[in-house]
This record gives sequence, structure tokens and C-alpha cells, in this order.
Amino acid sequence: MSVNPSTEKQANTFFGKQSAELSAEIAKYIPGGVDSPFRSFKEVGGHTIFFERAQGSRLYDVDGNEFIDYLGAWGPAILGHCVPEVVAACQETLAAGPVFGAPHRLELELARAVSDAVPSCEMVRFVNSGTEAVMSAVRLARGFTKRDLIIMFEGCYHGHSDSVLASQSHSSSDGIPAESKQNTLLVPYNDASALKDCMQANKGRVAAVLIEPVAGSMGVVPPKEGYLKEVERLCRDHNVVLIFDEVLTGCRVARGGAQSLYGINPDLTCFGKALGGGMAIGAFGGRRDIMNELEPIGKVYQAGTFSGNPLTMAGGIATLNLLLQKSVYDRMERSATLLFAGLQEIIDRCKLPVRLQRVGSMFAIIFSPLPVTNFRESLKIDAAKFARFYHELLNRGIYLPPSSVDAAAISAAHTDDDIEQTIKACDESLKEIF
Ligand SMILES: Cc1ncc(COP(=O)(O)O)c(C=O)c1O
Repeated sequence: MSVNPSTEKQANTFFGKQSAELSAEIAKYIPGGVDSPFRSFKEVGGHTIFFERAQGSRLYDVDGNEFIDYLGAWGPAILGHCVPEVVAACQETLAAGPVFGAPHRLELELARAVSDAVPSCEMVRFVNSGTEAVMSAVRLARGFTKRDLIIMFEGCYHGHSDSVLASQSHSSSDGIPAESKQNTLLVPYNDASALKDCMQANKGRVAAVLIEPVAGSMGVVPPKEGYLKEVERLCRDHNVVLIFDEVLTGCRVARGGAQSLYGINPDLTCFGKALGGGMAIGAFGGRRDIMNELEPIGKVYQAGTFSGNPLTMAGGIATLNLLLQKSVYDRMERSATLLFAGLQEIIDRCKLPVRLQRVGSMFAIIFSPLPVTNFRESLKIDAAKFARFYHELLNRGIYLPPSSVDAAAISAAHTDDDIEQTIKACDESLKEIF
């Protein structure tokens, strides 16, 4: 871990000369200088950092700085960056032709591997992002049930398609027709009786319940004991399709996803991020009778020029193969346990109003004296304190997601030494801000 001496420290805000210049220049051509708003430093302030290389647990920026990475590219880098087996598989596949627009063996191989890893997915279809996976699963559930309403949970994020952004939560947007909003119902997360009442009030009209089994965008919120079982039971009672959005948790919290941790059998599951080993992937899968409603067998339309392309499939197969080794999850658990023990010791010793929340290798450092179990509680997080902490950490060579609520990620490439350095950096940073 090192921060280049030419990188100036300005009022505790990280400053890299070349990154600052490039941030200003790119904003002339790309709105806000980013291709996805999460990447902007709107919440934490300062300029974005331009990276030019990543390896293992490390990111390297254009100013010569090296960071220990806990963004993990927002989820995909579960094994770390530039994993030799994944790189080799992708290079070989690229040389043989990156896209055919027709079936090939790698598609079959990855579909079979997903189905083996996640038994609720009898069939799978590949797409190019988590957004596409969720959008397609929602349409499929509506087509299958011949109903329009979907129920979602405050503070859960499911990508940027109209029907799932049509919420009152932080991820809402202008430009969504009122009709979309009318077909999306919102209930609080971790509150089974609210879901029960909503289903009762809309009996016979709900196509699907769409849920993140672990909420990753409001401070890494685990489901309360028995909550997901109750959600599953309500869906069965009302003949409603249960869709698990495992775009973030899939492969990450366990090879079989959160559904294997909590013992749930969703009707449909969405994947993305870690499944592709760094390639742009999405997938949705589930019950055979529901999946067979898709064109060309059924009447639910869904398509994609690049869907299931060989390059992406090669990245996915190499990644899932490596995730077969139990040691990968053991390593991530060891790092997460070490990190949390070190951080908790600092928090207790200094009696800080900071909480740690995690499930497996997904974690959040929350600037709130109280635990966060739902979206409303996440609104009490002290984002200003987090912003200061964020820059203190950048100045010490630690890169977290630039957001007080989004999940940070430990990879299998993090070492004990990385974790020790991170704990030390957090200790120093917390001393600066409290
Ligand atoms: C739970 C969840 N679902 C869906 C998405 C959307 O995935 P993508 O950004 O690949 O479209 C995300 C992305 O952060 C996510 O965390």
C-alpha cells in the first residue's frame, strides 16, 4: 500500500493531480464524468480517481498510487483482479471468436454449472447485466401469472429498469411513466406482517415479490431470523412468483448464493456481477415451467445480441470452477473475521457511534449508533462523517465504495497483511474524525 508523495493532501481530501485533471476533462464528454452515477464522488466529495491497472487485491491509479481494494468493482472481483485462470480462459476464447450470435458449448457448460450450484435454477438464460436479468425476470413473472403488480422492498436496489426503479426510495428517478409506478408496491424490508397485509389487500393481482435476500444498498442488512421463510410461505399461499435478486449475493455469500445459506427455494433467481469473473454478465433462472414461458417456446419476449457470448461464458466458467474450492470461501471468511475483530476492538475501545454489518464477504462500516435493519433506519446514517472517513482512508491507500450505504467487498485475494494495514488505516482515520 502506498500513496505517491506527489499526491497532495488538501483539507483531508484526497488529491491526485492527474486524476483531478482527467475528471475535469471527462466531464466535458460524459455526463458527470461517469458511465454509472454510483461511481461519482457526489456523496463523498472531491474528484474521482482514474485507475489504470488492477492486480489481486490492489488498484493502481494514474498518479502512481496503490490502494487495497474493497470496492471489488461493485461485486465482480470476488477472486481479486486479473486472476490468471480467468485471464487465460478469456484470452483463449477471444482468439477463437468473442461473439457468434448462435449457440456454442460454453453456454451449455455455464448453464449446467449454474444449475448445479443453484438447484432452484432448473433452467437459465444469460443476459449482459443485473439490470437486464431483473427486468426479464419481472416480465416473465408477469407473463406467467397474467398479473401486473409486483411487490418490492424499500431501499432494495434492482438495477435501473422502469418498473423496479418506480419506488419512493433513494433510487427513484424522473422519466418513469406513472403507470409503471402504479404497478409497483413497496413495503418495508424485514417486516413480514407488512408484506402479508400488502398481499392480502391485493389478492389475486400480484405477479411477483422481488427481494434482495441480503440488502446490499442500505448498509448490508441481513434478513431477520425466519423472515425469508415467511416471505417464501406468503408467496406460496398467494400463488405469487418469488424472485430472489442475487445479483450481488450470488456466488458471493456462498457458491449456491444466499438461498443456500437461508434454505429458500425461490421460483426465479437473478444473477450478475461475480458470476462473470469480470466479464459483463447477467443471468436469470428458475422453475422449468416458468422459464419455458420464454420465447421461442412461450410468449414472453426477451433477447440480446451479446447474451451468452463465448467470452463472457469463459469468464464465468473459469470463475465458478475456482469457486468450487472450499478454500476460497474459507479465505474470505478468515479475512472478514480478522477485519471485523480489529475494527470492533477500535470501536469498543473508543466508544465510537459506528457499527459493523456483514454477511460473508459483503460488509459495511456504518456511521450510526444503532443497527440498520431497514431503509428508514439507514436514513439515520451520518453521511458527512462517512465522507471524511472515506478521504482519510484514500489518503492511507484504502479504496471503499464512495457511498455510506453500499456494500464493500472482501475478495479471496486479500491477505492477512492487507487486513492488518486496513485496520491500522481505519484506526488512524477514525482518530482524525472523532
Ligand atoms: C442487488 C442488485 N440487483 C441488480 C443490480 C443491477 O446490476 P447491474 O449494475 O449489473 O445492471 C445491482 C447492481 O448494483 C444490484 O446490487
